[in-house]
Formats: sequence, C-alpha cells, structure tokens
Amino acid sequence: MARITAGVGSSHVPLLGVAADQGKTQDAYFKPIFDGYEWTKQWEREQKPDVIILVYNDHASAFDMKIVPTFAIGTGERYKPADEGWGPRQVPDVEGHPDLAWHIAQSLILDEFDMTIINEMDVDHGLTVPLTMMFGAPEAWPAKIIPLAVNVVTYPVPSGNRCWALGEAIARAVASFPEDLNVQIWGTGGMSHQLQGPRAGLINPEWDNMFLDGLVGTSDALRRIPHVEYIRETGSEGIEMVMWLIMRGALGHETRSIHRHYHVPCSNTAIGHIVLEPVA
Ligand code: DHB
Ligand code: FE
Repeated sequence: MARITAGVGSSHVPLLGVAADQGKTQDAYFKPIFDGYEWTKQWEREQKPDVIILVYNDHASAFDMKIVPTFAIGTGERYKPADEGWGPRQVPDVEGHPDLAWHIAQSLILDEFDMTIINEMDVDHGLTVPLTMMFGAPEAWPAKIIPLAVNVVTYPVPSGNRCWALGEAIARAVASFPEDLNVQIWGTGGMSHQLQGPRAGLINPEWDNMFLDGLVGTSDALRRIPHVEYIRETGSEGIEMVMWLIMRGALGHETRSIHRHYHVPCSNTAIGHIVLEPVA
C-alpha cells in the first residue's frame, strides 16, 4: 500500500530560486536561510520519497483570470518550469506520477471533492523553489511530483477548514493505492507577507510561530482561522498559508515536528519551514 510518511511545510520565495541558480546561497544575506534547510536536504537523501504531493499555488504562470481552479490536481507525465518576474528557471522538468494522480483524482471526486484535472501545465516558483530548497540542484528531481494547485491569488480562496478536510481525503486516497510507495505531502507558500499597498512589507513573527506551533500535536484549531485573520495579521499574501493545512490534514490525528526553521527577512517575507511526521 502507498503511505504518507511525512509532511513538509516551506515558504516559496522566488528570490531563493534566483540565489540558488546564481550560486549565492553562501552570501551573508542568504546563508542563514539556506542553512535552515541543510538538515532537511540530508533527511530527504535518507528518506528517498517515491512521490511528493506538492501543494502549491500558481502566480499567473499557468492560470490567469481566464481560469481560476480552486483545487487542481496534475495528472500529467511532466511539467516544464515557467515563471513571472525572473522568467523560467533552468531547473529540471518535473516528472509526474499519472497512475497515483489519477487514482487520487478519482478517490477525491468520489469523496465529493470536485477537483479540476490538469494534464498539461507549466509550474512556477510556487513549486520549483521548494524543490530547490529540499533537494538542491540535482540533474533530475529525485522524486515524482503530483502538483496540487490551490487558488490563493484571487478572492474567494478556499477556507482553512476545507483545505484541512481535503488533506484528510488525500490521505484516504493514498492509503487505498495498492502499490507500495513512500509518499510525502508538502504544503508551501507564506509565511506572513504583503507584496502591495500601504502595508507592503508586513511581517508578523509572533503569529507565524503560533501557526508553526499549531501544526504540531493533536490540536486542529488552525482549521478554524478565518480569512480575515490571515489578511489582518499576516498581510494579503499570508493567505498562502492555508495550503499548509492540506499537508497537516493529510497527516492525521497527531504529528510530531522533527525540524523547524524560521528567518526574517527573506525578500518581502518571513521564511518558515517545518518537517512533520504522523504519530501513528
Ligand atoms: C515574494 C513572495 C511570494 O510568495 C511570491 O509569490 C512572490 C514574491 C517575495 O517576497 O518577494
Ligand atoms: Fe507566493
């Protein structure tokens, strides 16, 4: 049987992709950020996940105002890097796992989560930067990736509660896949940041750390945080953190934290990172 063995949370700041691609990870500004991922890079080399369900958001690279899927699953064979801002990164293509992805899509839809199914799309920094942070710069990404895109760009975005419930349904879907696969689920984006308007640059370390604390243990209080609290306390782009709740929901009743990292500043955001294991 396939099983979800761990969850990873991480910010996806595009500047970190640029720093990695331009060999600047040891510069004074970037070193404390990248150092916080060294533990995870080593751990991932030992874990060797077969598949990663990578919950992320697109930033008008694959989708724009013509189509705004709330929850979309990638069922394709491969995805090319794309990006706004600095443009597509010179990183390997992302290989999918169509068999597991179609199985999850079927299971979710029969479980009454009406997913959008996407066979062809490009993936931007929301997906490729977390891969770089966890795997560095390999010739090919060492795991198959199932992209799970969430609309956190255009209102209305899904509630934290719905995201958590989707994670629970993903866990049921994975557990019913007959092949013996080591599956991880990653939740990406955040932490507190606002990229525009009078509050641009807003960072809230107390709130971010409360959120990281809340991912650990048995509490499910995070699923009840309303959108207005994310916006007020963490800025307009802090709402990306609802994606971490899909990861948390998929890990079941109780989690333990095996690594955690938080650093300010990182471009316009607070960078946060956590590695969680389900407690059986
Ligand atoms: C930044 C952060 C993001 O999450 C993003 O999607 C784009 C830019 C930033 O801090 O620069
Ligand atoms: Fe973002």
